Amino acid sequence: MSRRPGPGHVVADLVTGSGVDAALDGVDTVINCATTLRGKRDVTATKTLVDAVRRAGCRHLVHVSIVGVDRIRFGYYNGKLASEEVVRAVPHTILRATQFHDLLRRVFSGLAKLPLVLVPDLRFQPVDVRDVAARLVELALGDPIGRAPDFGGPEVREAADLARSYLAGRRRRIVPIRLPGKAFRAYRAGFNLTPEHADGRITFEEYL
Ligand SMILES: NC(=O)c1ccc[n+]([C@@H]2O[C@H](COP(=O)([O-])OP(=O)(O)OC[C@H]3O[C@@H](n4cnc5c(N)ncnc54)[C@H](OP(=O)(O)O)[C@@H]3O)[C@@H](O)[C@H]2O)c1
Repeated sequence: MSRRPGPGHVVADLVTGSGVDAALDGVDTVINCATTLRGKRDVTATKTLVDAVRRAGCRHLVHVSIVGVDRIRFGYYNGKLASEEVVRAVPHTILRATQFHDLLRRVFSGLAKLPLVLVPDLRFQPVDVRDVAARLVELALGDPIGRAPDFGGPEVREAADLARSYLAGRRRRIVPIRLPGKAFRAYRAGFNLTPEHADGRITFEEYL
């Protein structure tokens, strides 16, 4: 399902609700990867989906969330945590994943516009969306299990180290910086990591 027409999918919008019931007609299992960056709107979209899943009598809703949403306080994460609560109204499985490789690549691409690249002194365990997708499919084929074990990338790495790989061959100086605030303190404490579930296989360098 997408808001835009294209081959192989139906058109619907989880914020307005248009097309959602039709999209779920005859559907047994739903994997929800939809998100909007505004936390409240994300919860509204999830509610629309969950109501439609209930009406359609779907067997299983699989929902993607983020490692540490209950311990890191960003507006977007608050919305993701509230969405997890909403999902619990129907037979569900929630998979929390670590940051995707493409998210970090986009961040580094933005930071690399200056000759001095200011990289936060944080650690990440980036994961490839192909690994996450395979795990989501595996979960979707099984019965609803509530919260699934978290899913992380194969390596826990310093952001500066990942940035160095991204910038390989370019003349840039990396300068570590400390970001203020509670949310980044929670990041520094490693609440965005799940080293005991380093189940993704594709490394950041392989992704690049
Ligand atoms: N990025 C990360 O590092 C990361 C890490 C862990 C977990 N996650 C979670 O994984 C999921 C996917 O994240 P992502 O970064 O891949 O997101 P993304 O690239 O922004 O994709 C979000 C998708 O949501 C759909 N969407 C947005 N608004 C919609 C609406 N009103 N109705 C229907 N569909 C709508 C969009 O589809 P169309 O534009 O085609 O309509 C888009 O394909 C999210 O739940 C996110 O929280 C992400």
